[in-house]
Amino acid sequence: MSLLDDIADVGVDRRRGGYSRHGFDSAELELRSWFIASAEARGLDVETDRNGVLWAWWGTPGDGAIVTGSHLDSVPGGGAFDGPLGVTAALEAVDLLRARGFQPRKPLAIAVFPEEEGGRFGVACLGSRLMTGALSPDKALALTDPQGITLAEAVRSAGLDPLRFGRDPVALARIGAFVELHVEQGRGLTVPVGVASSILAHGRWRFTFAGEGNHAGATLMGDRRDPMLPAAALVAAARRAASAVPGARATVGRIVPTPGGTNVIASTVDVWLDARADDTPRTRSVVEAVSSAAAEAAREEGCTVSITEESYGDTVVFDATLRDDLASHLGGVPALPTGAGHDAGILAAHVPTAMLFVRNPTGVSHAPEEYATPEDCAAGAVALANVLEHLSR
Ligand code: GLV
Ligand code: MN
Ligand code: MN
Repeated sequence: MSLLDDIADVGVDRRRGGYSRHGFDSAELELRSWFIASAEARGLDVETDRNGVLWAWWGTPGDGAIVTGSHLDSVPGGGAFDGPLGVTAALEAVDLLRARGFQPRKPLAIAVFPEEEGGRFGVACLGSRLMTGALSPDKALALTDPQGITLAEAVRSAGLDPLRFGRDPVALARIGAFVELHVEQGRGLTVPVGVASSILAHGRWRFTFAGEGNHAGATLMGDRRDPMLPAAALVAAARRAASAVPGARATVGRIVPTPGGTNVIASTVDVWLDARADDTPRTRSVVEAVSSAAAEAAREEGCTVSITEESYGDTVVFDATLRDDLASHLGGVPALPTGAGHDAGILAAHVPTAMLFVRNPTGVSHAPEEYATPEDCAAGAVALANVLEHLSR
């Protein structure tokens, strides 16, 4: 039985299917409590750092620690594996190492990062960006969720002190190496376990189109300034722009019209663009093409558009020495790139970082159908135990 079964009922989303677990909401807080209890039951000492990252220590906390872990939040209506698999595999790896009678020479820790998906406050990898200083606490704490609750209010309700949020060089300095296990999110693996080579450059942009709110029945077609028109043009432009750049991806997964009534011409429409490519110039060229198409479509409809870059991260190439060492220690498993972002990608700019991937037979992710077989998940936990043993001896 996998530890994932322990949390199968937490944050089930009956409307969308799958799970909706977001940074510091009731589901994520329940999972955090579950993690603390599970770690303490294994004799690990749990602490919460200044940014709400949970750390479960085997051995005295200190510099040079071998750290594994992932996140417990999901996208809206997400799968069971993205994030939680890296946490449950870490706990299972501790069990395996204990059963082997292994005693780490270096401190070993499991870290759980809050709001990795940015599903509530909009910025992905919130905890690791705060820890590394990639995101300023002022900017982060002012982020709001769809209900208008700020991150500052949410963390205060969760019993944390927002005034302590911000760059945490002490926590960062303790990490000698970070290894995140994650479900693979394409069909790149034909064996149970692999290692990551790189992550695409990627970011999120918010387009706000403003027009004139009005009556759906009483407003003649020629009299309209409907911001939904340029919003629709943006969606089509994203497909066109990314298709023109090899390897690029662009997605509009979220559109919010205000006020949002069937018989109401919206006064504003917010559209979020997720764009990714091999490098920054290619990613930026996609975003520029989409932005100029959006501006042109807004002009044609007599609307305005404002564009905000909500987050951005350059291409990540994982530490080649660590990657090759782990791949060979695991018997020569393959290395593969990913289009998905991870806390490991943020940490990689600061500490030696690697990722282990567990095969995903369909490649589906960020959806309820995301899956990995119990056998492959178990193989992932064994691989993680082997890697932790190797690195912490
Ligand atoms: C997170 O999983 C992302 O790639 O956006
Ligand atoms: Mn994800
Ligand atoms: Mn993830």
